[in-house]
Amino acid sequence: EAAERGNFRHFMAKEIHEQPRAIAETLEGRVSERRVLAEALGPEATAVLDRAQRVQIVACGTSYHAGLVARYWFEGIAGLPCDVEVASEFRYRTHVVPEGTVFLTISQSGETADTLAALREAKRMGYMATLAICNVPESSLVRESDLVLMTRAGPEIGVASTKAFTTQLTALLLTVIAAGRHQGLDAEREQALVQALRHLPRQMEEVLALESEIETLAEDFVDKRHSLFLGRGVQYPIAMEGALKLKEISYIHAEAYPAGELKHGPLALVDSEMPVVTVAPRDDLVEKLKSNLQEVRARGGRLYVFADAATAPRDDDGYRVITLPAVDEVTAPILYTLPLQLLAYHVAVLKGTDVDQPRNLAKSVTVE
Ligand code: G6P
Repeated sequence: EAAERGNFRHFMAKEIHEQPRAIAETLEGRVSERRVLAEALGPEATAVLDRAQRVQIVACGTSYHAGLVARYWFEGIAGLPCDVEVASEFRYRTHVVPEGTVFLTISQSGETADTLAALREAKRMGYMATLAICNVPESSLVRESDLVLMTRAGPEIGVASTKAFTTQLTALLLTVIAAGRHQGLDAEREQALVQALRHLPRQMEEVLALESEIETLAEDFVDKRHSLFLGRGVQYPIAMEGALKLKEISYIHAEAYPAGELKHGPLALVDSEMPVVTVAPRDDLVEKLKSNLQEVRARGGRLYVFADAATAPRDDDGYRVITLPAVDEVTAPILYTLPLQLLAYHVAVLKGTDVDQPRNLAKSVTVE
């Protein structure tokens, strides 16, 4: 096992650092300089996406968060209506299936019981086609789906999912671009999106180089019992993923909120004992987000802000700011995931928990 971990203390650390490579692998042979290649999804999937009128995403855990990000992309880039639901809820309720709906599952293992059961149920319900985004080629999910797009993260051992998530997002964005073509996504925009994807591995290396800075932030979290994660728009699911990472491995209660909802409840919890983590790349919502941060600051809350140089608030006693490289708005959620993984990892290491095998959790939940 030590040999497999290489120079890393935990599999999770190794897997965090493997992400630039995992993304590059997931893009390999699937994009040119300008476009998503026909080979990326294959002729059958391309034909299905041509006819698709809607998308229903179903997944669990971290994979569900990837689905939530993809909803913004399907609607915002491809103009396709998209719903997302956790598998354990989806499978137990009655559905209306609109015509031309693609049923899309996302799973690292391809063996999660609820996701598989939802897929089996969907096949009875008259969805146009089933598409799986999965990391394990020989899994049940891959075998039972009509169409498959593999993530190429390689084996993921740490229970807390890291590289599987960012490769899922990459594969989802490829799917969105392919689907968008038939909904009027023009060649120029496609080229810009493909370029943004191709820049990711290098940008990820730059973020990973911030590790020691992030490690110092972790010290502030060790003695805390609660924390809040804020994001707006497509960064809200990234805040959810950051909160999930922290609770999974450090056992600190972490809750994610879309920043605009703060005033409808969680603001009552904010005091100097409540660290508030925020992801704030440059986008349309950043000014609104900053005013949300003022609300936290005015109540003595400690703010940890991951932002880009153009929008970052000043680093002073109310704020700790970590500046990330400038990134395309569309790929920002993929990049902003990394500092949150590193933060959770270092808090857990400082607390001395079993990082790769947190209590009560399993890598793959094959029972209900
Ligand atoms: C478990 C794991 C999570 C994972 C979830 C879904 O809860 O601990 O890391 O996100 O299952 O797993 P899947 O293999 O379907 O992505």
